Amino acid sequence: MPLRNEPDRWGAVPQFLHWLIVLLILVQGAIGLVMVDLPRRPSVFAIYNLHKSLGLTILALVILRLAWRLYDRRPVPLPMPRWQRRAAEAMHAALYVLLFAVPLSGWLFDSSTGLRPLYWWGQVRMPSLTGGGLSEAWQHRLATLHETLFWLLIGLAGLHVAAALKHHVIDRNDTLRRMLPRRRR
Ligand code: HEM
Ligand code: HEM
Repeated sequence: MPLRNEPDRWGAVPQFLHWLIVLLILVQGAIGLVMVDLPRRPSVFAIYNLHKSLGLTILALVILRLAWRLYDRRPVPLPMPRWQRRAAEAMHAALYVLLFAVPLSGWLFDSSTGLRPLYWWGQVRMPSLTGGGLSEAWQHRLATLHETLFWLLIGLAGLHVAAALKHHVIDRNDTLRRMLPRRRR
């Protein structure tokens, strides 16, 4: 399977990044939702560190995904009504914005507590985005922002999945197949 996009399908690199990011967002969301309800014990800090490092890894993968999108020619759009193409483009743009906004808001909240430095997988020291601790009111706002953006991402992804399935099952076109490895004949 070619690494780059072909006129009629997504290449191996964008496919791999699309599905890896989907998987990691689900795992990361589950870790986030579970960890905030755990009692604040030292062992739980390890889970917070895992969540932060995985979140920064997702951010790096999203940057890679967008860089590849700018570098590679996109597959030719399938025939569909103009409003549908516009809606799909708007949805993809919104998903990209949220794929950045969710991890950045998490990082912003983490910086705002001013508690301890952030290390990516315990190795790379990441800068504070706020330059120090902020008031409790701001910490609360940023935590709420992180959670709200996450649910917005899940909501839009739900619509995106419904659209992909509609193309596959009802319209019976190649939208979904183009995002999956080619089946051997
Ligand atoms: C795509 C990446 C990410 C996803 C999907 C995600 C998702 C979540 C979710 C669902 C929660 C639970 C929210 C709640 O119920 O209150 C959460 C909490 C949290 N996240 Fe993330 N997160 C991501 C990236 C990050 C990053 C990069 C950081 C920091 C560097 C981070 C730091 C935190 C912290 C500190 C909390 C706890 C907030 C609190 O105590 O209220 N997250 N995240
Ligand atoms: C967290 C979940 C998901 C996110 C954040 C997401 C994000 C995206 C983004 C940003 C694109 C646009 C690619 C581009 O134009 O560069 C895309 C394309 C696509 N996604 Fe997803 N996706 C998710 C889940 C899914 C799932 C579960 C399916 C299948 C059921 C799916 C099927 C597709 C298809 C078929 C395309 C190609 C659309 C086209 O050719 O116009 N996605 N996705």
